[in-house]
Amino acid sequence: LAKVEFELASIPEGKNVIIKWRGKPVFIRHRTQDEIKEARAVDWKKLRDPQSDEDRTKKPEWLVMLGVCTHLGCVPIGESGDFGGWFCPCHGSHYDISGRTRKGPAPLNLEVPPHDFNEAEGKLIV
Ligand code: FES
Repeated sequence: LAKVEFELASIPEGKNVIIKWRGKPVFIRHRTQDEIKEARAVDWKKLRDPQSDEDRTKKPEWLVMLGVCTHLGCVPIGESGDFGGWFCPCHGSHYDISGRTRKGPAPLNLEVPPHDFNEAEGKLIV
């Protein structure tokens, strides 16, 4: 399988980057401490697609997801929507700062692809 390596030091805290992986956009967000707190304070068992932030991230400061809306596949926009995360303009789905679906037609959270970190080199491997 084709792997992509990405230099994490190039993403400042509080910023998003979009890379391509197998023809799909992958969102990488370097989350702030406040965002991590917010993502983990949510009562996730009550969500439409119940998933804890701990289950969605290998390292809390790095959120890595496919940039494909789980409704009909549009690319959501970062730093927007009612839940401080992503907003899909196609039919109005809102995702939170963990990429979980919170409002609108999207049935599932944004998918987290298999990924790893190379600590020594400060790289993300998707
Ligand atoms: Fe995103 Fe429909 S494709 S809300």
